Amino acid sequence: MIEVLISDFQFAGIAEIVEILKLNSQYGFPEVDGPEAVKRVEACGTAVFLVCETDGKVVGVVRGNYDGSRVIIHQFSVHPAYKKRGIGTALVKEIVKSFEQRGAPTVSATVTEERLPFWRKVGFRKTKAFVGGNW
Ligand SMILES: CC(C)(COP(=O)(O)OP(=O)(O)OC[C@H]1O[C@@H](n2cnc3c(N)ncnc32)[C@H](O)[C@@H]1OP(=O)(O)O)[C@@H](O)C(=O)NCCC(=O)NCCS
Repeated sequence: MIEVLISDFQFAGIAEIVEILKLNSQYGFPEVDGPEAVKRVEACGTAVFLVCETDGKVVGVVRGNYDGSRVIIHQFSVHPAYKKRGIGTALVKEIVKSFEQRGAPTVSATVTEERLPFWRKVGFRKTKAFVGGNW
């Protein structure tokens, strides 16, 4: 594990996050993940939005929401050049801790089939629920 800093998202880091999402083919909906959307997230008291920095730049991101009952982590991405160094695991641990400190009884995440082995390693299991969408 390299030396990293995990902290709350700052708007100044949005360009680096967009770049990471693009590199990981996760930027299909700028209206959901782009700068304007992120301003609304910042103003939203229920969101937890963490970034991981190393070498003076943002290299990973995780974002989720707690409505007082359930948590859903719905954005999770690490820069391709920084994968497999423990950054993703550290981000998940940190966001889970943050939600638990807010009183969340459980934490869920949107998970792709491809990434299920990763999520299993960080303590999540597959449930019968899956994500539906109107897009
Ligand atoms: C999923 C994702 C966020 C994981 O980020 P990451 O920083 O690579 O995560 P970690 O390094 O903690 O763990 C990844 C793997 O590297 C392994 N690993 C961690 N540290 C390692 C090290 N020092 N040396 C070798 N392997 C290591 C982990 O065991 C894990 O193995 P697995 O993929 O077989 O489960 C990243 O792959 C990503 O951004 N993918 C594209 C977007 C995506 O799929 N997002 C999630 C959708 S559900």
